[in-house]
Formats: sequence, C-alpha cells, structure tokens
Amino acid sequence: MLNKIFFLVFLSFSTIIFSQEYKLTIYPDSGKYQISKHIYGHFSEHLGRLIYGGIWVGENNSIPNKNGIRTDIVEALKKIKIPNLRWPGGCFADEYHWKDGIGPRNERPKTINTNWGGVIEDNSFGTHEFMDLCDQLGCEPVICGNIGSGTVEEMSDWVDYLTADNEGPMSKLRKKNGREKPWKVKFWGMGNETWGCGGIMTSDFYADEMARYSRFLRNNNDNVLYKIASGGLEADYNWTETIMKKWSSTGGWLQGYLSGYSLHYYTVPHDWTNKGSATDFNEQDWFTTIFKTLRMDTLVTNHSAIMDKYDPQKRIGLIVDEWGDWHEVEPGTNPGFLYQQNTLRDAMVAAINLNIFNKHCSRVKMANIAQIVNVLQALILTDKEKMILTPTYHVFDLYKVHQDAIFLPFKLESEDYELDGKKIPSLHATASKDSTGLIHISIVNVNPEKSLKVSCGIEGVTSKQISGKILTSENMQDHNTFEQPDNVKIKEFKQFKIEDDKILIDMPSKSIITLEIKD
Ligand code: AHR
Repeated sequence: MLNKIFFLVFLSFSTIIFSQEYKLTIYPDSGKYQISKHIYGHFSEHLGRLIYGGIWVGENNSIPNKNGIRTDIVEALKKIKIPNLRWPGGCFADEYHWKDGIGPRNERPKTINTNWGGVIEDNSFGTHEFMDLCDQLGCEPVICGNIGSGTVEEMSDWVDYLTADNEGPMSKLRKKNGREKPWKVKFWGMGNETWGCGGIMTSDFYADEMARYSRFLRNNNDNVLYKIASGGLEADYNWTETIMKKWSSTGGWLQGYLSGYSLHYYTVPHDWTNKGSATDFNEQDWFTTIFKTLRMDTLVTNHSAIMDKYDPQKRIGLIVDEWGDWHEVEPGTNPGFLYQQNTLRDAMVAAINLNIFNKHCSRVKMANIAQIVNVLQALILTDKEKMILTPTYHVFDLYKVHQDAIFLPFKLESEDYELDGKKIPSLHATASKDSTGLIHISIVNVNPEKSLKVSCGIEGVTSKQISGKILTSENMQDHNTFEQPDNVKIKEFKQFKIEDDKILIDMPSKSIITLEIKD
C-alpha cells in the first residue's frame, strides 16, 4: 500500500516536473521600432582567402564568375537578402590607399598586406570591383576609410571619385577608368579601431580628427553620406562619452557630420593567447562561448545609455560593425589568414547576437558579422571551386524574415542552464511583424542536453496558420565539410501544436527555430 502511494506521489510530481512549460508572451500592438535590415549586414576584408579566392577569381578563371566575381557566392548571399557589405577592412583599411586599386589591373601596384600574413596584395580587387560586387548582390556598400595612415585629402578624393558628377578631377578620373555615372554610397566609416590598429589614438585626439575628416567628406549631388565614427575598445565607455560630448557640444556644425558610432565585440571562447579550437571543444567551452556572447547585451545597453544622454532622440545609430566568434585557425592553415570552421555553437552565437541587436533596434542601426567568406565566423567556406554554407549562414537564412520588420516586445520565462556554478537562461527569443502582417518568432534553446516546452501566446492573435523551420544537429560540434556539406541545415519544424489560443512548442536541445504566423 505504502509503495502504491509513493508511486502515485512520484508520478504526479514527475508529471509536474517533466511537463513544465515556459511562457513566451508576445505583444503585437506594442511594437514601435523597426529592425533595420542593416542589422543583418556583413564584412569583407582583404584578409586570407576572403577577397582573393573567396569572392574574386578573375575573369579568366574556370570557376564560374561574372566580371571576375564568383557566381556561386553571389547567388548564396542573395538568397539571405544581404543588405550591405563593409569593405576593405578592418585593420587592412587603415593601410589601404584606394588609388592603388583603380585603373588597368596590370598597371596597379603590388603592395604588402602587413596586417594579414605579409602576403602580396596585387590590388586587382579595388573600388570598381567592389562596387560591381555590391551591384551584383543588390546590397549597399559600407566603405571604411583610412584615417590611420591616410590623409584628409585622400579620403575626400575617394568620396568624390565614387559619388561626384562634375568637372572635378576625381569625377574625370572615374570616367577615364570606364565608369561614367557616379555610384550611390551612403555608409562611410571614418577610420577603424582608431584606438588600436587604426592609429593608437586617444579618444580626444580621434574626436578632433573625426570632426576634421567629416568636414571634408562631401555630399555630392543627392548622395548623402551616413558617416560612422570609430568607437573605442569594446567596453571603453569614456571613448563613447568623448565622441558624444564632442558631437553634442559642436552643435549644428558637427551634428550634420556624424550619423553613426561603431562598436566592435568578438566572442573569444578562451582568451586571446589561446582562443580555443572551432570544432574540438567540450560542454564547458560551449557554455563559456554563449556566456561571453551574452556580454554583447551589456555592452550595447551601456553604450546606448551614454548615447541617450547626449542624443535622446536617437539620431546617432550604434553600428556594431564587427562581431562574431574568434577561434584558433584550422590546423595547418596560415595563422594570418584567420580561417576557422563553423559549428552549431557558432550558429547559437549568431542567433543570440541577432536577438540582442533586434531588441536594441531603436539604437542599433547596423551590424556586420566578421566575416563573410573564409575568415572568422564565416557564412561561406570555399576550397577552390567548391563552396559550403556554414551553420551561421543558415541562421541568417532563418532570421532574414526580421529584416525591416517591426520589433515586437515580449516576455519570456526560462529555466537556467547551469554549469560549474554559472548560469545563463536556456531560452532566448526575438519576434517581429513584417509589412504584410506576418509575425515571425525565433526561439533559441542553448541547453545542449535538454529539450524544453514553450507555451507561446500572442496577444490578440488567434491564428491557426503556422509554419516552422529549425536548425539543430545531434552534436554540439557538428559542422559542414566539403565532403558532407549538409550535415547541419535548415529543416521543416513541426513539433508544435495549437491549444486554445496558445502555441505549444517542443524546443529540442541546442536548437534554433523560426515560426511564421499568419493572423
Ligand atoms: O576582423 C578581423 C580584425 O579584427 C579587423 O581587421 C579589426 O578591425 C579587428 O580587430
């Protein structure tokens, strides 16, 4: 008898435990801010095999190309609606002299890429080739100008070369090089990491430099530049204070000359002396990587708070123009080329960062993952004519529905995922409503062992037309290879049911889902 009672008590207790549901409540009528599509932006530096081999193969190559640009890469990036591309660096930008990259290719000088492996840069991919790439991709260029080792005149000339349509020398030079009409270029970075590889400047010195440079970067014709100031080292709040103070104190003068402020933050699983392998890691590394990624929220919150003080109307955008995982390079590859594999763990990092940027979309106006092909947290890896899509690519595919949609506020309950005395929430989410009225909800379960039940309610919406997609895999370390390119890929997701006005979702361990809900 006692045994029976004990069994019944255990049964009801276990039902409570195992059927625990975590509530996600979405408020569709409270959405105020648009998630700029530019949050889903990218970064392409002259680094390793990114430009050369990854994008540019030259016109006479057997790899299918249009004007020397790989067709397979363009097609893959168009599929995820790439909104913008930052170029030419990074640290490379701080030593790039754009006039080396124009005119007949066989007459362009050969220079040394001092930042990345000391290799020869033959400048065959320059301004015209980059603008052609953006045209083929249908995305906006984001040009990062050289303050570190360049001059005001050089940068001002570059703007005129690209955008002026007059009798001036730069406009004439562009026409001589075969481009009659000016291009449209909006986003312009005034230096990169000017606290470090971009010139080892102090914030006061840079604030003055930035003002001087921006004064001479002209809005030609109807081309209005969106000028982005370099931020300080990730948590250098004093740098942000200095730039914002300068912006607000200079009044109308500088105010018309600055639109964005940059923040860089990388997730380094171990530390800078030993960053850890991209594929050979354990649960401790998985946990630490996600734990460190969540620091992005703190950084964005704190920088935004300083910006709010000087700019409560949010006229200056926070531009997270470098972010992502930074692992050790793949064994046997050039340490200066930053070539790393990409697993389900990187997909988690991508989804969490994108959730954070969406959440802060009233201030974050652009973000650029580092980097697009063959470098750091790449979306695409290539091996000569072969190309594979990484788990990170698939996250951008799952999340493209949030581009330019209205961010929907929500409340999410979650249990903690604990390891070695540290805790992070298991569940993370983002939600938005697009211009056609479709609601999209993305949920991430970072717990690598435990599936979780989520009960999702959308206030005022009773729709029963729901479809879902999922990215997950059996092991944390799973990744795509040239031999097995589809190990980790998006699949249809059906583990949900509608009960009353709730969507009951079974979130598998280590998974990312996106649901589409038609009202
Ligand atoms: O993305 C690699 C490098 O990281 C960039 O060149 C630089 O800006 C940053 O430190």
